[in-house]
Amino acid sequence: MALREQWRSRWGFVLAAAGSAVGLGNLWGFAYRASEGGGAAFLLLYILIVLVVCLPVLVSEMVLGRSTGSSPLLAPVNAAGPRWSPMGWLFVIAPLGIGSYYAVLMGWTLDTLIHSIFFGLPSNLSEAETFFGSISSGSSVLLGQLISLLLTAIVVSAGVRGGIERLSRLGVPILFGLLLILALWAATLSGTWEGYRTFLLKLDASQFFNPSTIRNAFTQAFFSLSLGIGIMVAYSSYLDKKNQLPKEAVSVASIDTAVGLLAGMITFPIVMSFGLKEVISGSTVGTLFISLPTGLGTLGLTGRVVAILFFALAYIAAITSSISLLEVPVSSIMDRLGWGRSKAVFVSTGLLFVLGIPSALNLDVLGKMDSIFGGVLLILGGFLLSIFLGWVVPNRFDEDLAGCNSNHRVRRYLKFMLRWVSPPVIAFGLIVSVVDLFQN
Ligand code: PHE
Repeated sequence: MALREQWRSRWGFVLAAAGSAVGLGNLWGFAYRASEGGGAAFLLLYILIVLVVCLPVLVSEMVLGRSTGSSPLLAPVNAAGPRWSPMGWLFVIAPLGIGSYYAVLMGWTLDTLIHSIFFGLPSNLSEAETFFGSISSGSSVLLGQLISLLLTAIVVSAGVRGGIERLSRLGVPILFGLLLILALWAATLSGTWEGYRTFLLKLDASQFFNPSTIRNAFTQAFFSLSLGIGIMVAYSSYLDKKNQLPKEAVSVASIDTAVGLLAGMITFPIVMSFGLKEVISGSTVGTLFISLPTGLGTLGLTGRVVAILFFALAYIAAITSSISLLEVPVSSIMDRLGWGRSKAVFVSTGLLFVLGIPSALNLDVLGKMDSIFGGVLLILGGFLLSIFLGWVVPNRFDEDLAGCNSNHRVRRYLKFMLRWVSPPVIAFGLIVSVVDLFQN
């Protein structure tokens, strides 16, 4: 068998993992979930969930990948026997589900970018509806989805180092720089404080008990970190023993959270400054694809430049995530069937395209796919991972982390959280999410 590829450097891995984490979830998902009424309570819950339950699960997912050196499909089986193969299948099915509609969203992003460059922005709400109608329906959606999948496929077929790592090293710093510039610009708008206050600072304690807010916070935490469905297993299987996984996990989670917050500091001031609050509430597409272009449309050339930069950065963020979604089925096929990378990429991309057609043609389907594949399944996967590494193969967790010389107090803390805190808290989040899903 050919030798397994490896990342070129520590930063290559961290940037690739952060590139997977940072994506449309931070820009589109954060904006619409934060605007669904949770306000600061949503934000606090989200940060708490990341710190308390997601970090240990992120480390455990990395441990599973590195210690088995296997693809997500086979890693659970190689660690604990064939009884665990359903978990491997979950790891393949969930990324396929997400990847299918993610490419549709990427298509919209690309279309908005192209509109901003060549045709300008809508100047009022009714124009915005038409604008959004044109990017989200008809054959252009399929075209955008297809182009996005093809670009993703080109990167993934160039391999772990030559494709994924290379793009992430370039893309993640660029997008971070663009975000900073845009957040500074947004801070000069008239509605800036109003925006920060409404969406990020206004604390309504009763929201802590609102099932939709709880579900939004769990979903956002897991989706945004690409957590619970084998992505980090795939990426960590290309690591050597040197990386201190707890440190890498903290870097990835910090970058991801910082980008989510920065994105909020761009979108909400724009929404408030241009009186667009009503448009976005309760709409998964509203904030990013309707309010933002409309608000910026009233600003003439500056607005157009900002829109171009914003949607370009969104597209870069999206592609460094979609490559991770594709890498999961690709590495699993290579591992299980012994196929070469190009053939595995070709087949997986075709599958993603076909699976994404219903989401491309129908917004409701897209919303449902996002709730199930991009929500409940990730939380379920996170629960299984915490049980798996905390209770089923706990030695693997200890040995792998001891092998990379990580601080033993950190290790003890993580292990404790993984065993005693993550499972009940995630189980709670899962139950609330499933109940809320059926009620709405
Ligand atoms: N984390 C990515 C984002 O925020 C999306 C993603 C979810 C990617 C799950 C892989 C797995 O956009």
